[in-house]
Amino acid sequence: MKISVIGLGYVGLPLSLQFARSGVTVLGLDVDAQKVEALKAGRSYIKHIDSEEIAALVENGSFEASTDFRRVAETEAVIICVPTPLNKNREPDISYIVNTGKTIAPYLPKGCLVVLESTTYPGTTDEDLRKVLESGSGMKAGIDFHLAFSPEREDPGNPESKVALIPKVIGGYTPECVRKASALYARAIKTIVPVSSCRTAEATKLLENTFRAVNIALVNELKVVYEAMGIDIWEVIESAKTKPFGFMPFYPGPGLGGHCIPIDPFYLTWKAREYGQHTRFIELAGEINTSMPQYVVNRVAEALNEKQKSLKGSSVLVLGLAYKPDVDDDRESPSYVLMDLLTKRGALVSYYDPYIPVIRPSREFGHWAGTKSVPWNREVLSSFDVVLISTKHSIVNYQELADYAECIVDTRNAMASVKTRPGQVWKA
Ligand SMILES: NC(=O)c1ccc[n+]([C@@H]2O[C@H](COP(=O)([O-])OP(=O)(O)OC[C@H]3O[C@@H](n4cnc5c(N)ncnc54)[C@H](O)[C@@H]3O)[C@@H](O)[C@H]2O)c1
Repeated sequence: MKISVIGLGYVGLPLSLQFARSGVTVLGLDVDAQKVEALKAGRSYIKHIDSEEIAALVENGSFEASTDFRRVAETEAVIICVPTPLNKNREPDISYIVNTGKTIAPYLPKGCLVVLESTTYPGTTDEDLRKVLESGSGMKAGIDFHLAFSPEREDPGNPESKVALIPKVIGGYTPECVRKASALYARAIKTIVPVSSCRTAEATKLLENTFRAVNIALVNELKVVYEAMGIDIWEVIESAKTKPFGFMPFYPGPGLGGHCIPIDPFYLTWKAREYGQHTRFIELAGEINTSMPQYVVNRVAEALNEKQKSLKGSSVLVLGLAYKPDVDDDRESPSYVLMDLLTKRGALVSYYDPYIPVIRPSREFGHWAGTKSVPWNREVLSSFDVVLISTKHSIVNYQELADYAECIVDTRNAMASVKTRPGQVWKA
């Protein structure tokens, strides 16, 4: 069997490799010619994906990358994993999905299966995508081709998380569509969870991510409340977590990051309006989570104040740019928001991240592009007025940090098991 996977990013690439190692021939398609060239040369551009494995799969012919979308005509199924961001008015931008649909429609072979994986609002697959596929191909979904939605559940940076072992929810446009899609995924993934429709599958993903956004907001709010009471939220969570039922730990932080949690719930908010419905939990969680960077910057100012220093003119090292530990993904990272807020208040900001040696260009934080990570040594670390930990990479030696840095503001409880001096660490 030969399939194509469109969008070879954090979702599409690992999925392609999982199919390829399961005996399915995969044609990976992307608009980014640099990525395609890298893959052809057997080179990974994602830290937790091995180049060797890509090279081996390219070598034995089970995986090939291309920018030529007409080649979907060679494949029996097409899986779409393109970005679904928010536009500048924080509304869903499904243009990547729609454009992909328009591009591939003329080349879809009769009887093929199209599966959307990008996170999106209910109705995208059976309304928006179906329409462009039908009008561009002259075929009817559910009759001439099959259509399904299956959300990705990738957990980047977690070595325990293997694509093959994460149950796959699948909803089809018709019962036959879901059967076809289930049969495809069963070749590469252990547990298949068929549901009654594309919309149910789309809504499932939004529930999962909203659940996280809301619970993170809850602990972020409690962090501030408990701090005022002199109680450490981290200790509270550790103790609550000993309850063997009815509790699941979530951890506070400097704000939400990544391509999913800060964005996806607002896809639902937008769509709900069409039905006259309001998503109050989502709005409140968004409000609390987006206020976190300001809270953290105020804590930095307090810590400096204690040392008779002002934020204005002080040097601040932001430790960790990636939005979560042990990954090189800095999309929507709250570290950038912190860096902007600190700069606005007159601080001189640098950063350290072993996985992001130079800041790449981006739409929202383009003004930081080209800035380089400082080196890690005593001389450099001791030269900052304050070090602000925003990401807890496990590769970082926090004991060295305690030995070298004068003042540390810790948003991740990274210094919990490290020997520190009294008054040296401020939790935020
Ligand atoms: N990263 C995650 O952990 C994660 C988890 C679950 C779901 N998702 C969802 O999966 C989708 C993809 O996310 P991602 O993290 O893989 O994004 P990504 O930015 O890493 O990858 C997207 C890829 O699509 C390519 N692309 C863009 N426009 C294209 C087009 N028109 N045709 C073909 N390729 C195109 C880009 O070059 C890029 O390689 C999003 O909807 C996201 O919300 C992501």
